[in-house]
Amino acid sequence: MYLTREEERILEGEHGWACQICMKILVKLGELFGATRLIPINSAHISGVSYKTIGDAPIEFLRNLVKKGAKTKVFSTLNPSSVDPHLASRLPNECIEKQGEILELYSSMNAKLSLSCTPYYEFSPPKGSHLAWAESSAVVYANSVLGAWTNREGAPSALASAILGKTPDYGVHKPENRTPNILVRVSTDLLNEIDYGALGYHVGKIAKDKIPLFKGLKNPSLDCLKQLGAAMASSGMTNMFYYNEKMKANDITEKIDVGRREINSVIEELSLKPENQIDMVFVGCPHCSLEEIKTLAKLVKGKRLKRNLEFWVCVSRHIKQMGKNFINTIESSGATVLTDTCAVVTWTEKLGIRRIMTNSVKAAHYLPTMNKAEVLLAPIERCIKAAYT
Ligand code: F3S
Repeated sequence: MYLTREEERILEGEHGWACQICMKILVKLGELFGATRLIPINSAHISGVSYKTIGDAPIEFLRNLVKKGAKTKVFSTLNPSSVDPHLASRLPNECIEKQGEILELYSSMNAKLSLSCTPYYEFSPPKGSHLAWAESSAVVYANSVLGAWTNREGAPSALASAILGKTPDYGVHKPENRTPNILVRVSTDLLNEIDYGALGYHVGKIAKDKIPLFKGLKNPSLDCLKQLGAAMASSGMTNMFYYNEKMKANDITEKIDVGRREINSVIEELSLKPENQIDMVFVGCPHCSLEEIKTLAKLVKGKRLKRNLEFWVCVSRHIKQMGKNFINTIESSGATVLTDTCAVVTWTEKLGIRRIMTNSVKAAHYLPTMNKAEVLLAPIERCIKAAYT
């Protein structure tokens, strides 16, 4: 991999241990994937924030980085943590303290405590700009909907990129690797967010790391595209998709057809039997948009949450601030609006929550393994019907 004189100096340790270790991470990654150089990035989105998912091991590394004066060089946001102020009194002290320390460490490095998987609602990267984002759902959204360019970074590489302001030039940073190579012909009407999620989940399993071009999506909303991409990234390795009906597909030899049968079979695969009693309804995976908050407020206005049932609505701090009136309506109905975390990356099992109803295919995929929860997957209207008297 070719390094500039300045980059070589960093690698040799002339700029201190923190920059040197970050350069080592990026060079190793670049060599592994055949990158020939590093390129500057516009922003970084860092995962590895939730104490529940990272555990103790990386904390020492973060402490060392801070001790050695590491600071982010580009605008850098953080993925959700495992704690929200609403949960602080319900979780063990040790968890709260460790999570608090992780946030302080990131904050000392000048990362923004956005604590959301939807950084793009707060800051939309320019079209064609290079990013180093972790969080698979945000990566797919950035590449496919926003037209920015980012590989799916892991926590260490996103942090190293944030500190150096660079990323190795490989994968979807190169125009020749952004061509669609699997055509997906959708022959059924997609009726709601879980249909879009189910489509993404089904295609993710088949496409693996190929780039799908969808044909037959009828004016999907941005929120539905968000669900499609998040689900696709949870069952496969794809970093992006296309959904432009006018885009030529003549050269694509691999083709798959998706109809109602495939969509329904994903929903059945990820759902419990409906008669099981649920403990919680969870919406906001990925974190809700302003539009979703608005819809939700309309649906729950004047309603009362059932007793012995929790209703979690997860949003970023930014969206909570932007949609204050809608948030008030939602909270007045008895629902809890959480920022900073989500049902997957906090300890729902420690809170006694075993059965979760959600409108997110991504959440339905992760909750059984990461939270030992049983899941019922249903569109938002059915979630509301189940949660309110
Ligand atoms: Fe975000 Fe949690 Fe889903 S981090 S994408 S809401 S699993």
